[in-house]
Amino acid sequence: MENKKFYITTPIYYPSGKFHIGTAYCEVLTDCIKRYKTLRGYDTYMLTGLDEHGQKIQTVAEKRGLTPKEHVDEMAKKAIELWKLMGIDYNDFIRTTEPRHVKAVQKIVEKFLENGDIYKGEYTGWYCMPCENYFTEFQLVDGKCPDCGREVKKMKEDAYFFNMSKYEDWIKEFYRENPEFIVPTSRKNEIFKNFIEPGLEDLCISRCTFDWGIPMPNDSKHVLYVWLDALANYITALGYMSDDDSNFKKYWPADLHVVGKEIIRFHGIYWPIFLHALGLELPKKLYAHSWIVMKDGKMSKSVGNVIYPEDLISRYGLDATKYYLLRLMSFSQDSLFLPEDFVTRFNSDLANDLGNLVSRTIAMVNKYFDGEIPVESKEETEFDNSLQEFFKEKLKETESFMDEYHVSDGIQSVWSYIARTNKYIDETAPWALAKVPEDREKLKTVIYNLVDSLRKIAIMIKPFMSGTSKKILEQLGLNSEVTWDDLYKENVILAGTKVAEKPEILFARLDKDEEIEYIQNAMHGNK
Ligand code: MSP
Repeated sequence: MENKKFYITTPIYYPSGKFHIGTAYCEVLTDCIKRYKTLRGYDTYMLTGLDEHGQKIQTVAEKRGLTPKEHVDEMAKKAIELWKLMGIDYNDFIRTTEPRHVKAVQKIVEKFLENGDIYKGEYTGWYCMPCENYFTEFQLVDGKCPDCGREVKKMKEDAYFFNMSKYEDWIKEFYRENPEFIVPTSRKNEIFKNFIEPGLEDLCISRCTFDWGIPMPNDSKHVLYVWLDALANYITALGYMSDDDSNFKKYWPADLHVVGKEIIRFHGIYWPIFLHALGLELPKKLYAHSWIVMKDGKMSKSVGNVIYPEDLISRYGLDATKYYLLRLMSFSQDSLFLPEDFVTRFNSDLANDLGNLVSRTIAMVNKYFDGEIPVESKEETEFDNSLQEFFKEKLKETESFMDEYHVSDGIQSVWSYIARTNKYIDETAPWALAKVPEDREKLKTVIYNLVDSLRKIAIMIKPFMSGTSKKILEQLGLNSEVTWDDLYKENVILAGTKVAEKPEILFARLDKDEEIEYIQNAMHGNK
């Protein structure tokens, strides 16, 4: 077993409103990768949290008649509840208003000041409030924010700047040497072409037009730009610049930052430069995932096309919801959430392919062997070998996809093994073997192979459907404490192991029309 560490982070979310399935996707994806690495024997550490400062939060709180602190405290409780409901296995949840973060960020800024990375000047630029970001004239698209397309406002203020240009050559060289730092690489090409190649502009890192932020340590009239504050969470949470930095020493550098595609510039330019300026190692990889979009574009409350994870989980269960999100999203392209597709996948992939395989196999152990898994027999069928070979191939394929964070592709590999196992039932026709006494040994082989295939499937789905994985193993009477290495073990099922007499149905088929209507209603907020 490899004994390596794996530090993985989500972006820290703005607590500006209720989290929809897009936000949840990012969390579920990160959790899935973390669980996969844990299963493979890594010492894993997952960080998530909230990005609580900035003008946007201050404005939302004011609109609600709350102080920013009251607002973020309430939102933090809700976020923690949601991640609990979604079974997110994080190790730390950081809030940027926590003293541990605030203190460390101020120390980081002091270090920048000492090193001459920060200077005072005057800023004029186009500000996009929802994105908390300034743009130059050149960066605007049709006079609007290049990231979200909304109106921008011309603003001028006294401000501190981070001397990005000092690091321009360094970052260019870094990308030349590490072309795969950002995946998919198309995203790296985008930021390189649009932001690095034309020349880096110094970054304005303080604001004095509002006060909901971390005060500059040398000038309390200014609060820190929310992105500098936020990015630092990846190290402050580990105790960087604190009395106890043991986690920092153990887990930094991050092995993977998972981020949405629209925030890659901050993670792909500013973050590496900040780290380099602090003399710290860089994260190993950034994965910029795409977006879940709806038929009518981006999810938006005003359009009435937002879908919340709670509405899916309460009706279809956690594992079906996670399965759908992870299976849906391709590695590099936006993916369309369609209610009819959700229901079809539930019925075909979960109820039919997986659920039926489990219930048929258990029913056969009960029917032909009194509920006891038979000893693997010496008598083979002509189909055993190809099932074995197929498994080996798919195991390799799943691993290579998961190792490269192509989670949807990894899931599809597992499902092709599920389909192959279903085909094995058709090929071997155990019901026919059961009628011929001389075929009894063959029947044992077939049933043993089916149970063993299910054992392997249960392990492979564990990173994204841990509840279902456990249920399958328990229904088969097998130990549910498994590791990825168990996929390489043969003959581990003890003869005579008792399967469940009346297994619970894992995924009951859905009525298509009724459920499409339910999801559509949920989207419009009138379930
Ligand atoms: N606070 C910043 C991140 C700071 S990290 C140092 C932020 N927060 S956010 O709440 O706006 O977005 C958090 C994440 O949710 C982003 O990675 C974003 O891409 C993701 N998603 C929001 N909507 C999404 C979809 N519809 N689909 C997939 N992910 C999307 O940005």
